[in-house]
Amino acid sequence: MPDYTAEPFRIKMVEPIHLISLAARQAAMLQAGFNLFALRAEDVYIDLLTDSGTGTMSQAQWAAIMEGDESYAGARSYFHLAESMKAIFGFEYFVPTHQGRAAENILSAILVKPGMFVPSNMHFDTTDANIRARGGRPTNLVAAAAFDPTLQHPFKGNMDVEKLHAFIRQVGPQNIPFGTITITNNAGGGQPVSLENIRAVAAAYRQYKIPFFIDACRFAENSFFIKLREPGYASKSTLEIAHEIFALADGAWMSAKKDALVNIGGFLAMRDPDVYQKVCNELILREGFPTYGGLAGRDLEAMAVGLWEGLDEAYLAYRVGQTAYLGERLLEAGIPIIEPTGGHAIYLDAGRFLTHIPQAEFPGQALAAALYLEGAVRGVEIGSVMFAHPDPDTGEMVFPQLELVRLAIPRRVYTQAHLDYVAEALIRLAQKRNNLRGYRITYSPALLRHFTARFEPL
Ligand code: F0G
Repeated sequence: MPDYTAEPFRIKMVEPIHLISLAARQAAMLQAGFNLFALRAEDVYIDLLTDSGTGTMSQAQWAAIMEGDESYAGARSYFHLAESMKAIFGFEYFVPTHQGRAAENILSAILVKPGMFVPSNMHFDTTDANIRARGGRPTNLVAAAAFDPTLQHPFKGNMDVEKLHAFIRQVGPQNIPFGTITITNNAGGGQPVSLENIRAVAAAYRQYKIPFFIDACRFAENSFFIKLREPGYASKSTLEIAHEIFALADGAWMSAKKDALVNIGGFLAMRDPDVYQKVCNELILREGFPTYGGLAGRDLEAMAVGLWEGLDEAYLAYRVGQTAYLGERLLEAGIPIIEPTGGHAIYLDAGRFLTHIPQAEFPGQALAAALYLEGAVRGVEIGSVMFAHPDPDTGEMVFPQLELVRLAIPRRVYTQAHLDYVAEALIRLAQKRNNLRGYRITYSPALLRHFTARFEPL
């Protein structure tokens, strides 16, 4: 049995969960059109749909919530958050947003014009969709290592810097309103990016005068991986590493629902006063006044505290250790996952698990649905349902390189026994994998179809 890093906390409040019967799970799936997003959460036993907004807040965060200042303008809570923001990220300006995609929407609204390109290692689905919604073309330039699921590489989230240079020259820097990088690379296995790579990416953007914004929602986990894996960083604190990362950027946005350990919240930060002015105008139109940005004062307090807790190294050792533990249990049983394990999730490799199901029949969807039916465990497909799209030039379907099912681990929520239960459900499923069938889509919206699509088993 692999090692397990014991929790650096004890449990003070519990939330009951229940395992419903197989017949009830089958009925729930029929009702949901086999889309796990359409299930009632109460029908799920272990919910690994996302690590976003699903974490447990600490006693310090709940205490801070009681001190929330709900003033419309200039609330004390805003200034508390501003202190944490300045001390951790160091940007001159920021606005709170209700979550990450609100920041993406604002950034895309003010910078992206139709036909423009936005490079990244890999865009997450909401970033991708917000850029497309403004007529832009999100472009993924992650290094090839990301697509080799068993390759042991410490930083499989790294961007291919040569490709980035070639790409900028090819489309012209005037057609790139901003460049980005996602840390850790959620769409590619939750894999970290090295500081060396962030430095090289920042230099490339700077050379062509392209503003560089970091998608920072798992910056603390990424910083901890740099400490563990990058030569020269073992004795630096995660805070010092974060300083080094953000000093390289012109701005950042964050879904605080991840590494800031809150149930709702986010921000958009920048150095340029003109960009800040435009951001404020857009924010006021859609989110709220710049000192609350779509959040309650108490949410700002929880975030101000949570940003620090997310950087705590005892917590991060437990966090990353818990993910590694589940990964090792699955590998021991011969279940294919993306290796090495990343920060926030295990990514099952549905392509290798269900070799008999072609991409057009959604092997990731098939595996995610089967895991729910087997054990009432909910993961999320990150494959063709989420990312296949017609090429804008040829109309031909472009499939993603990997068909994955992500088991995202909420922060400070589940115990080792819960993870053992998940591993055992998957081990049972592996024994009957040849009986699993693909799916057909019966309804699909134009953008972000995975949230609301409906399916039929083939
Ligand atoms: N960027 C990344 C890398 C993300 O993982 C997410 C959200 C966002 C941006 C958008 O943030 O949800 O607060 O609007 N990821 C969640 C997930 C939904 O399940 O991985 P949001």
